[in-house]
Order: sequence, then structure tokens, then C-alpha cells
Amino acid sequence: MPVGAYYYPEHWERNQWSRDMKRMAELGFSFTHMAEFAWANLEPEEGKFDFEWLDYCIAEAAKNGLKVILCTPSPCPPAWLTSKHPEVLLVNEAGVRLAHNGNRMHANQNHPVYKRYIERIVTEMAKRYGNDKHIWGWQIDNEPHLASLYDYSDFAQTDFIEWLKKKYNTIAQLNKAWGAAFWSGTYNSFDQIRIPNEKESSNNPHALLDFKRYTADALALSIRTQAILLRKNINAGQWITTNYAYYKFLPPVDLFRNKGDLDFASHTMYLLSTFLNYPEGNLNYRLGSGMELSFSNEMAHSIEGFTGIMELQPGQINWGKYNAQPLPGAVRMWIWHSFGLGDKFTCTYRFRQPLFGGEQYHKGIMETDGVTVARGGKEYLQAIGEIKSLEKFFDAKAQIPAELKSRKTAFLWKQDNLWEMMSSAHTQSWDTWQHYYTYYQSLKSMGVPITFIRESDNFDPKEFPFMIAPAYSMVDSAIVNKWQKYVEDGGNLILSCRTGSKDNNGHFHETLLQQPIWKLIGAKVEDTDQLPPSVTGKIKSGNSTYDWNIWGELLTPDKGTETLATFADQFYAGTAAVTTRKAGKGSITYLGVWTGKTAFEKSILKTVYQRAGAKILDLPDYVFIEWRDGFWVAVNYTSENFNLPIPAEAKIILGNKELKPGEVTVWK
Ligand code: GAL
Repeated sequence: MPVGAYYYPEHWERNQWSRDMKRMAELGFSFTHMAEFAWANLEPEEGKFDFEWLDYCIAEAAKNGLKVILCTPSPCPPAWLTSKHPEVLLVNEAGVRLAHNGNRMHANQNHPVYKRYIERIVTEMAKRYGNDKHIWGWQIDNEPHLASLYDYSDFAQTDFIEWLKKKYNTIAQLNKAWGAAFWSGTYNSFDQIRIPNEKESSNNPHALLDFKRYTADALALSIRTQAILLRKNINAGQWITTNYAYYKFLPPVDLFRNKGDLDFASHTMYLLSTFLNYPEGNLNYRLGSGMELSFSNEMAHSIEGFTGIMELQPGQINWGKYNAQPLPGAVRMWIWHSFGLGDKFTCTYRFRQPLFGGEQYHKGIMETDGVTVARGGKEYLQAIGEIKSLEKFFDAKAQIPAELKSRKTAFLWKQDNLWEMMSSAHTQSWDTWQHYYTYYQSLKSMGVPITFIRESDNFDPKEFPFMIAPAYSMVDSAIVNKWQKYVEDGGNLILSCRTGSKDNNGHFHETLLQQPIWKLIGAKVEDTDQLPPSVTGKIKSGNSTYDWNIWGELLTPDKGTETLATFADQFYAGTAAVTTRKAGKGSITYLGVWTGKTAFEKSILKTVYQRAGAKILDLPDYVFIEWRDGFWVAVNYTSENFNLPIPAEAKIILGNKELKPGEVTVWK
């Protein structure tokens, strides 16, 4: 797994570039990354291009054996552009037009004027470097969706209306889909429509859902536009990607929308950014969210079948709520986690710590003097060396172990569900991301490899003996039938609360609650309940009792359906909360309750997997074991030691059976 580092030649004196490239290579890095955000240097005046500096730095990298990833500078329009064409700048939800003031990602890439400029710079770059053998591949833009995602400009307004016209054809159809009869929302014509403003309360939820779909389409289009241009001008040996930031705290972009446009999706990961889920324990803020690294990685991997991390935190960062030092060893562990997840490369952000600008306190591989290797940098060198030393154990023919195959799981993904429930959560305690994470973390602690798939994909029980679709709120009969067939063919389907409540416009079905899935799950959903955060209800499963208060559905199982858990108090004590039934060659399990913690959900999942004959692991949350190319890799984000389940005949190559916090163990 090659490891690289970002470099911004434009931040440093030219006479240091040669030294820096030499040093980067000596330290063991195999590639670097340039030109991102450098539009003002590449096109200092309109139509006047300057590539000489980049040629020189690429040549210095090449001289030292470093491959180069080039990045298109579309997040950063130069001042000459935005002062001539302020109309390309985004307008925020308060109606304020953004300005050129050290910002980035502040222009609408689909605005015809801005698009023309992007197309020109991308074409010029592609022509110049598209046949350069030192260029490994291309990254389009940067973390597409960060900053002001939602644009309220006149352009966006018109563009949104055009999108709606294409979708609905007539205003009557739009009125129906948006439930516009509610509160006199009915439109007479498309031009009366205003972009739903997320910051205002009581928006039409169906309009908001469409606006999110539109925005995701617009974003995907801007990436596609660049990908097409690059393809036209670069040789087939160079690849194209973009680096998604797939974090809960950012507006969710849909990676699948660019499937087929890019060679693969890469992603970025800042585990200590304080906005993520930390495990319990006193070291959590120094070890970070391994769960989110894993989730984002498996999501990016699912798009084209492989991935790499384009930006991985090198040490302390500058933009968290607070910015703790990683625990000694944590940086190394993150690299190994990336390795274990099968990544084709890992790249750190960044080689040198900046001396100026908005990210001054952000560590690099090198300290502020540019020549001293930082603590995180040393951990990079260590990991690079260790990974290289695995080569002697490498077996190109290694086959995925049978136990892993037996628990392979498809996570059915529909971005619309996430958006839909964000605007109709129904309780303040409902957080769709957290709901997904409850299941994701539970499965990872059972050692389950996860692939995200969509409704249009093949539901093959041989490839995926298990499929999970948590809170899959919007369904039509086609997906219910597809699930039924998957189960009959031998798949084990797991659904959770809220599934089947709405149609694809986000309206309730004109049936009883969730009735479209009743037959499939073999139970009726009679009602739902939520408790105040200060109150905990009880659920009983086997001999164990668990607390819940976020979401509970009262189930009445059909004859032949088994109850796996019941509510143990409240006026409905004794009512089923979780059911399972066999159907055809497979099974279907329905969890009508969400506890928000993993213990309960995990206990049910374990039952399902074990009954289906899968071999599963029993790890604490935030200890991860991955398999790659014949190697098992374990990492520990918890604050406790963990005694790894390594078989006696295995050969430990790195680390110990007793895995300490922030440590790595590798075995064959
Ligand atoms: C990322 C971003 C980079 C840089 C980095 C700093 O989210 O893509 O350009 O700003 O954060 O940690």
C-alpha cells in the first residue's frame, strides 16, 4: 500500500522544493499531491496560464521517484474571476452573497460562467499533464460538498425550477407530490417556487427532499463535467477520483451518484476532529473514531470496488472544537487500519505544517521549520517501514477465508431515506446517522465485512448471505418484492423500525402503519412510541433486560413468527418488540425498537447470524479486525487492552495477542 503526502509548492520558496521532494522520498513516501487550490498560480490572469512552476516541482518529485496526484483547482476561483463575475458566488440561506476573502468552495460550479472557466483550466491542465508519465492520477475538486453546500442564488433558483419541470412535467403533479394542498401551499406555476430554506422551520418536507435530491444531482453533475473533460485529454494509464468527506456532521453527499464517472471514490478522514463518534473510555479523544473511518472507507470502497484514503490526519489538527494530540501510536494505527481495510493507497494531509493561512496549527509530517520530522511524521515512517516488511509474507494467491465469506453483509443504502428522516425525525432523539452507526458498529464488532449496495443492485444471497436495511423508511412494492425473493432464495434480511412507513415522495402509505411490509416481516406494526430522554423503558430478550427510549414499535406477530424481544414495562408490557421468521430458504428479522446503544441490537444480530450458520467474532465496540491479502489486521480504539482471538496455529507478524489501546497486531 503506497503512502503519500500532500505538497503545496506555492506555499514555499522555490529553492526548497527540491530539498522537500528529496526528503519526502527518503522518508519512504511513494507519491505526492499537488495543484489543489492553486488556480491563482496556474492562471494568474484571465487566459494567461503559468505551468512552469508546476512542471519544475513535478520534475523534482519525479527525480526522487515520487509519483504525483494532480488536483483540479475548482474550489478556489481567483480574485480576478469573482470580481469580474460576482454572479458565480454562492448566496447563503440569509441571502448574503459570499465574497473572495480567503474562502474556498464559494462559487457554484454549475453556473454557466464559472463552468466555462473551470472547463478551460481543467482542459489546459489535462492537455499539459495528461500524457506525463509522472502523473499517477487526478483528483477532481476537493471534498465536494464542504462549506456552503446549499446555494440560494438566482442561478440556483432557476436551475432548481428546471430540474423540477423535468421531474414533474406539470405543476399539478408537483403539487400532488409535494402535498401542496397542506396549508394552502398549492402553486399555480413553476416560477412561483422558491428554494426551500433549510434554516426556516416548518418547510414543506417533500419540497426539502426534492431540493436535497436536486443539490446532490447538481454536485454530481459538476464532478461528472470535469471527469468527462479529463478523460478526453488524459491517457488511459492515469486514473480519476474525487475525495469525499463522508462524515455525519457534513451535509450528506451521495457517492453513488457519480458511480461510473470516476475510476473510484476516495475519501478523507480526520479521526480526532471532535465531531465524530468516540468510543467510551478515557483515551477516546486521543484515538478517535475508528468506526467512522471504517464506515466511510467501506462506503467509498463500495462504489467501484476499491478505494484509498486521500487525506489522513497526520497529527494534531486545527479545526476541531478542541484539538487534542493523538495518543502516541494512534497515527500509526490509523494507517494500519487503512491497510487492513484493503486500501490501494493512503495519503496524509500534509507534508509540511503551514506557516500562514487558515490552518496554521495543523500538523504536517514536518514541523514548522520544514526539516524536522514531527511526532506523527515519525509514526508514518514507522508504518511505511512495517508495511514494506510484510512483503516477504505476501501471498498473491491468498483467498478470502470461508468464515469471512459466511458473514458477508450488504448494507442497503438509499440516500433519500437519510434526507427524508432528517426533515421528519418525529422526535428530537432520532438521528438517522446514529441509527445506521448502531448497526454498523454492531456488525463490525462481529467481524463482518460490509458492502453498501442499492436497490437497483443484484440481491444475491450467495454473495451476501445477510442484508441489513436499517430504518428504510421509503418503500414501494418493487423493493418489498425484491426483499421477499432475496429471503426465499436463502438471504437473511434484517430490517429495523420505521421501515416501510412512507412512499418515495415521503408521504405515508394510505394503509395502516407500515402495512406494506407486514406480510414480509410476518407481523403487524400496531403503533410507535417514544419516551422522554430522562425516562428509560425496558425490553426483555432471553434472560437479559435492556433500556430504550428513542423509538419503539408495538408488534403483533403472525402465527409462525417468533418473538425475540418484548417490551417489559409501560402500558404495553409483553408486546413484541423484535420478531423473526423463516421464509423459503432464508429468514427475516424485524427490530421495532432502537436503543441507541449497541448491546441490545448486537445481541439480536448475533442470534440471526449464528442461527444462519455464520461464524462471527465477539469484539468490544471499536476493536476492529480486518482481513486483507492474506493478513489479519487488528486495531484497538478503546481505552482497554483486548486479548485477540488469534488461533493457536496462526503466526503473529507484528504486535501481540494482547492488543493495547492504539496498538496494531498483524497475523497470518
Ligand atoms: C480537509 C480539507 C483539506 C484541509 C484539511 C485540514 O477537510 O479537504 O483541504 O483543509 O481538511 O485538516
